Amino acid sequence: MANVIEAEGLKRSFGDVEAVRGLDLTIESGEIYGFLGPNGAGKSTVVKMLTTLLSPTSGSARIFGMDVVDEADRIRLRIGAALQDASLDDKQSGREILTMQGELYGLTKAEIAQRIDELSTLIEFDAVDRWIREYSGGMKRRLDLAASLMHNPDLLFLDEPTTGLDPTSRARVWEEVRALNSELGTTIFLTTQYLEEADELADRVGIINKGVIVGEGSPDDLKRSVGADVIQVRLGDTGDSVPPIMEEVGRVAGVEHVERGPNGLLVSVSNGAAAVSPVAVALDGVGASVRELTLRTPTLDDVFLELTGDRMEVGQ
Ligand SMILES: Nc1ncnc2c1ncn2[C@@H]1O[C@H](COP(=O)(O)OP(=O)(O)O)[C@@H](O)[C@H]1O
Ligand SMILES: [Mg+2]
Repeated sequence: MANVIEAEGLKRSFGDVEAVRGLDLTIESGEIYGFLGPNGAGKSTVVKMLTTLLSPTSGSARIFGMDVVDEADRIRLRIGAALQDASLDDKQSGREILTMQGELYGLTKAEIAQRIDELSTLIEFDAVDRWIREYSGGMKRRLDLAASLMHNPDLLFLDEPTTGLDPTSRARVWEEVRALNSELGTTIFLTTQYLEEADELADRVGIINKGVIVGEGSPDDLKRSVGADVIQVRLGDTGDSVPPIMEEVGRVAGVEHVERGPNGLLVSVSNGAAAVSPVAVALDGVGASVRELTLRTPTLDDVFLELTGDRMEVGQ
């Protein structure tokens, strides 16, 4: 069976809050699916429903063809999950946590020892027998990941696996996710609020905002769908008044949209190469002090803007 996750009209409310407002999902075996959205978008609520930890208010979902409400126990044996609010006991060692997890899934002592050997490459060889309180944030995340993998699940859920990690730790988690997917064929559903992470890792991205999927596709397809290049203008700090500059640039042929960007303007244009010099001329015409003018292709942030009217604006 090719579809590992299927959801139809999945909804979840908390009192008056409609956290997830009717979600359709189809995820195939072997995919890395990136669920991208800002804080509060509904990502964790979806993950909790798909991992059988939270029941839907309405709609349905199946994992490996099994219903998340009626066949929760059977589903849990086949999936792994490293969730956002996982709490680790400071007074335990990594090995103790992994052993407990292995026992939970009914592995034998020998299987547990072997699995810890295999997985300790994930969390640094020398750390598995150290106390959790000596672990860095990055090591804790990798231990979480290892714990979710003790029983060799075919489907892995990762809820914001790299939030708060430094770039080096983030890159290591990315490598591990890629290796699991390419070497073991594990299907991966990961949530993130980092555009770069979705772009780097996911075969397919679903963009979620306010409980609704507003766009879905490969990162390249999504970026192509914006259909515009972006000219980034960095302005000097000479006290330029920005609104008249924006107005002037907005009048240039081929300019679709002008907004304030980091230290200047972001100008969306239908054809970057053709628009650069008229934009430069217009800037010169209003006497703007331009420090830098760069042309770039759209990012997933531009996709998010196009789909929602807002920038994601998280710590990139
Ligand atoms: N247990 C809960 N009780 C009440 N509201 C909740 C609960 N869990 C989540 N919410 C609300 O549902 C919305 C989506 O939350 P969540 O799924 O955690 O978003 P994300 O993981 O994308 O940050 C938010 O408005 C959040 O405050
Ligand atoms: Mg969350």
